[in-house]
Amino acid sequence: MQTGTSFAVATEGFELPALGEPYLLTPGPLTTAYSVKQAMLRDWGSWDGDFRAMTANLRRRLLALTGDTNNEFDCVPMQGSGSFCVEAMLGSFIPKDGKVLVLANGAYGLRAASTMQYLGRAYTLIDKGDYLPPRGDEVAAALDADPAITHVIAIHCETSSGILNPVAEIAEAVQAKGRKLLIDSMSAFGAIPLDVNDIRYEAMVSSANKCIEGVPGFGFVIARKTELEAAKDRSHSLSLDVHAQWAAMEKTGQWRFTPPTHVVAAFLEALRIHEAEGGVAGRGARYAANRDTLVGGMRELGFETLLSDRWLSPIIVTFFCPAHENFAFDRFYELMKKKGFIIYPGKLTVVESFRIGCIGRMDEHVMRRVVEAARQSLAEMDVPDAAAPRAALDERAKLAA
Ligand SMILES: Cc1ncc(COP(=O)(O)O)c(C=O)c1O
Repeated sequence: MQTGTSFAVATEGFELPALGEPYLLTPGPLTTAYSVKQAMLRDWGSWDGDFRAMTANLRRRLLALTGDTNNEFDCVPMQGSGSFCVEAMLGSFIPKDGKVLVLANGAYGLRAASTMQYLGRAYTLIDKGDYLPPRGDEVAAALDADPAITHVIAIHCETSSGILNPVAEIAEAVQAKGRKLLIDSMSAFGAIPLDVNDIRYEAMVSSANKCIEGVPGFGFVIARKTELEAAKDRSHSLSLDVHAQWAAMEKTGQWRFTPPTHVVAAFLEALRIHEAEGGVAGRGARYAANRDTLVGGMRELGFETLLSDRWLSPIIVTFFCPAHENFAFDRFYELMKKKGFIIYPGKLTVVESFRIGCIGRMDEHVMRRVVEAARQSLAEMDVPDAAAPRAALDERAKLAA
């Protein structure tokens, strides 16, 4: 059992009293199961056979989540955070004379574009602003207009707004035009299907501390073996070379440089829980129930979501800040924190907003408490009405147009 200033979520349950540590309603790092934290209480030798077996196990189980029954893909874990993996994927799979179409509708699409800039490789950008989805027909038109484009990068769930981008439609357009698709599925993989039999892509990335509910410390690239082979000697970077990491793991079973051993141990426990919950479908269903409880309850309080239901991901939801003059996000944040919930500031450029994550070790009962905490916090701020400002609603109308 844990002691002292302890954890919001212990043992196997979802709803346990917060003994000092708030729930993280954030898109990773997120609230993890007690047994995931507990798995880190042992030291592992990185060279030792036991740890090598753990790495092999992790790679195999992640691959299984993609439905790769033909053994065409492989999984390459990489040290570092998610951005390290995005950079590793772009630097390893895009030839030096290739050109990428970056599909951006928020911070992470723009970060992919800026990564291309650092890499000094050619790219072009479709920037849809804060939250409008890039659609298949505009991707097709952009590919027709520029035959030099070899690859497209799409963001699966754009975590800055919470929009679930239409990757299936984008993948169809990319395949029809004979180009290759790379996917940043950082905040979606593990909860939203990305089955290689349904969606054509060459490579995707995600990280340990998102929908599998591990702790931060590594990410992983899942790519076609043909792409992994072709990536030899292509990377701009020693440590972010996906081919080199893959080749070393295949040959020795080891990571090339010091692996995050405790994080790997925690991740294996997180994968066990993920499987017990019913894999991608089970995890996705719990997150969808979290979102529905949250959104329904917040709307009853008068809050408005940025996105219409069609685009709302089960990962994170953006709410407009209320127009009422007594509302101040910083105070709302502190009041929510006092009640045991860490929320997230918004990332929209035009209107004030905040975000609440639906992922992590919590269920709809916890989400009901989140809504109750929001209700109490509004009352403490003397905000009788959470209605959004006119400008926010005008902004949202653009999405419907
Ligand atoms: C879609 C997406 N891409 C990239 C990243 C970057 O990951 P990290 O912050 O772990 O570097 C994130 C982080 O939340 C993300 O949500």
